[in-house]
Amino acid sequence: MIATYSATSQARVNAALETLFSAPSPELARLYEAMRYSVMNGGKRVRPLLAYAACEALGGKAEQANGAACAVELIHAYSLVHDDLPAMDDDDLRRGQPTTHKKFDEACAILAGDGLQSLAFTALLDPRLSTVDAEIRLQMVSALAQAAGPAGMVGGQAIDLGSVGLKLDQKALEYMHRHKTGALIEVSVKLGALASGLAEEDELTSLQTYAQAIGLAFQVQDDILDVESDTETLGKRQGADIARDKPTYPSLLGLDAAKAYALELRDQALHALRPFDAAAEPLRELARYIVDRRS
Ligand code: IPE
Ligand code: IPE
Ligand code: MG
Ligand code: MG
Ligand code: MG
Repeated sequence: MIATYSATSQARVNAALETLFSAPSPELARLYEAMRYSVMNGGKRVRPLLAYAACEALGGKAEQANGAACAVELIHAYSLVHDDLPAMDDDDLRRGQPTTHKKFDEACAILAGDGLQSLAFTALLDPRLSTVDAEIRLQMVSALAQAAGPAGMVGGQAIDLGSVGLKLDQKALEYMHRHKTGALIEVSVKLGALASGLAEEDELTSLQTYAQAIGLAFQVQDDILDVESDTETLGKRQGADIARDKPTYPSLLGLDAAKAYALELRDQALHALRPFDAAAEPLRELARYIVDRRS
């Protein structure tokens, strides 16, 4: 079921994303090509899937969340382009292909990342991608800015880079993960829910509890896969965290305890969805997928 849901949702978000990369003048062809390369190169599209699934859980039509889905994937793609730069994780491989700074050059990758971040907000406001009213749109812009910015993902990345070689305790590691990865996953669910135009306060609160649990679980599983997967399956270099002495859940707790923690977080997420009916099944499936995934 999740395979069909994923394929349909991926096709939907890819079609919407495709519309965003036409250069307004020939001088900008390379910049737009680099942005396009960084987004349209595969990727699981987990954040768009969450946006669609949250919209549908509240009785909305998935298409209403197209703007939200594009926006979170564009922020994610920008974060990966910058994360892979030599000044950050210094990685050469992403989604099975050369990282953007390897395919183009570093300056181009920095600018492509900057451009993708701006495009995310443009997508959120694009009337072709959602029809929700202006007041809700404003809430969505504010939530995305908060999640992507220094109090969210950017802050988490700053902590990550400041922690290389340090031994963080579980509280500090959790704080880092909740920011660098959790914040964007959490807002993916929130934007999808808001895009339905039907979100009630108590539903948003339950969805937030769900999203916080899977947001952390997602990065715990990413850390686990860095240890036990392989480069080909991952499409990025296996063992990169170990090589760089990054603080991770397996390095702190050991592999088995990290896996047990991921399952516990999945169960917390499923528990938070108890008030919802069958329309939340894709959200439940996504919680299971996030900790079962192999790439
Ligand atoms: C990788 O994210 C970076 C993290 C935040 C852990 P994904 O595992 O979602 O990467 P893609 O989009 O599928 O390539
Ligand atoms: C990346 O975390 C988080 C963001 C890009 C915000 P990682 O550095 O663990 O991601 P990968 O393993 O390179 O995909
Ligand atoms: Mg990193
Ligand atoms: Mg990295
Ligand atoms: Mg990683």
